Amino acid sequence: MVSDTIPYGHLLFAHGHAAEAERLTALAAAFDPDTIHRLENLGIQPDWNCLEIGAGVGTIAGWLATQCPSGRVVATDLDTSLISDEGCPPNLQIIEHDATVDDFPEGTFNLIHSRFVFEHLEERDAVLAKAVRWLAPGGWLLLEDTGPFPFDSSPNELYRRVSKAVLSIATKRMGSDYEWSRAFPSQLRANGLVHTGVHASSHGVGATPMGRAWRLTAEHIAADLNTDFGITATELAAFADQIESPSFDDLCIASIAAWGQKPPVAGLPSQRSSG
Ligand SMILES: C[S@@+](CC[C@H](N)C(=O)[O-])C[C@H]1O[C@@H](n2cnc3c(N)ncnc32)[C@H](O)[C@@H]1O
Repeated sequence: MVSDTIPYGHLLFAHGHAAEAERLTALAAAFDPDTIHRLENLGIQPDWNCLEIGAGVGTIAGWLATQCPSGRVVATDLDTSLISDEGCPPNLQIIEHDATVDDFPEGTFNLIHSRFVFEHLEERDAVLAKAVRWLAPGGWLLLEDTGPFPFDSSPNELYRRVSKAVLSIATKRMGSDYEWSRAFPSQLRANGLVHTGVHASSHGVGATPMGRAWRLTAEHIAADLNTDFGITATELAAFADQIESPSFDDLCIASIAAWGQKPPVAGLPSQRSSG
């Protein structure tokens, strides 16, 4: 079957779009504290070699570089133009790399992290298998992807309708799969990882970074929302007003995190020092 989807970043959500830097910066502001907490729980060590797949604006890659001063961090993206190299630490390498086609040598990294990327890759299962090969024995993988379930129970009809339409359009146009993470961490165990775990978090949208990121996401695909779901410009403006209002209480997408460790070589100590 020939897919008629166009991969993430090739048309929709290209980094050259005027609002993309602001959208990804807001997304990072919302979720970086959760991600950092999860990475700290893995017992990150100063000499680890780390890989950040689909780094976006690069905030987590930059944080990893501060945690691993005697190791190195490789930050990849299809388009690295939104990662500032101003003040870039010497142990941070930023490279253009398409996870669906490009490779790394087997056993290169002690830690691989990726957030809100695999859900957009139609080849996500094959890329996961590759990422596990890139891990050194004892290395950790932390994947974070969208959980759409907070929208189903939203009491606000407009917010619920627009939000669910946004996800449907991403699935139709880019092949995104927001249910892939619902089975976490079984995908990691199926790839041979051990000490697996799962955790979910979600943030409020009323005048918050999460709200800004979600408003910009909906506005990016305003034409599709209108064509496919009949959501008018007036309704989208009302949706945006709600989200920017400090008195609007609702939850946005969840981040579902799964982690797991590549079995250490027999006789060598595990890399985990805490968590
Ligand atoms: C929703 S953004 C998330 C950015 C960042 N990880 C975060 O959570 O703040 C998805 C990112 O994945 C990148 N991306 C999409 N497909 C990719 C691929 N095949 N290989 C590498 N990066 C990819 C996009 O360019 C974009 O920066």
